[in-house]
Amino acid sequence: MVRKPVIVVHGGAWAIPDDLAESSKIGVKNAAKCGFSILASGGSSMQAVESAVRMLEDNPVFDAGHGAVLNANGDVELDAIIMDGKNLAVGAVSCIKNIANPVMFARTVMEKTPHSMLTGAGANTFAERMNIDKVPTDELVTENATKEWEKYQLYKQSVTSLFNTEKMHDTVGAVAIDSEGNLSCGTSTGGITNKMVGRVGDSPIVGSGAYADNFCGAVSTTGHGESIMKVTLARLVLFNMQRGETPQNAADHALEYMKNRVHGSGGLIVVSKSGEWAARFSTKRMAWASAENNLLTYGLNPGETFQETLDP
Ligand code: GLY
Repeated sequence: MVRKPVIVVHGGAWAIPDDLAESSKIGVKNAAKCGFSILASGGSSMQAVESAVRMLEDNPVFDAGHGAVLNANGDVELDAIIMDGKNLAVGAVSCIKNIANPVMFARTVMEKTPHSMLTGAGANTFAERMNIDKVPTDELVTENATKEWEKYQLYKQSVTSLFNTEKMHDTVGAVAIDSEGNLSCGTSTGGITNKMVGRVGDSPIVGSGAYADNFCGAVSTTGHGESIMKVTLARLVLFNMQRGETPQNAADHALEYMKNRVHGSGGLIVVSKSGEWAARFSTKRMAWASAENNLLTYGLNPGETFQETLDP
């Protein structure tokens, strides 16, 4: 049966300041368009998700790839995941350095190793073997990331208290269903500013930062990693859907549970096996966009939805 392809992307759930609002919206719209053009020409959801996330990683507005935030040593350590809902194949990388497109590398781990996740120095050694381009750290670091890091050094605030103010940049992701009904998801992040060296967040953890299963749906999450891991947010949304909830209700109930149970804020995008989708968040803002039926839908503030026709 031929399905109606859909892609949804996000650029992170946090208190996006007004001076980044417009560029965040433009960034997610372009990524959704890029992913949808692949789906519309018969490409796979895996390819669409990878391409959309790569575009977000290349955009310095977002905390992933170029634009990643800095750890306590002022260094960049990146996490990413990609998952194929057809066979539950998953590839993830954590604490990697000097790689501009961690999501592409996560796909290499999925396709070229018998493992699901590679981390740290071992992952970087494998990247070299696979001829994945290396970039100098300086190329990934933006002026904003440096300023944010300097501010946190100055006040020596704890990562937790800072995150609860929702001031942290956070994560990019995409979910898609293609015309064959295959679902995929991908998530990529620099994590949270001033994180301990070696800290791994939710993003590369299967079931927390992302999950895709053709029998149900695909999810990519964003927000406070330690909270997301405690409630396995991505899998929780799909669990709610398996119990009969719509994607929107499943997402809202999962975010509500995370807030009540562990006081965590965040956001997520979800698409079901029938192509129904939702973009929901409990933070002040989240940039998101979806593309289907030549229609681009996007938003940033709670309850806000804009629509544009996509060029054929
Ligand atoms: N959600 C991204 C992180 O906490 O690392």
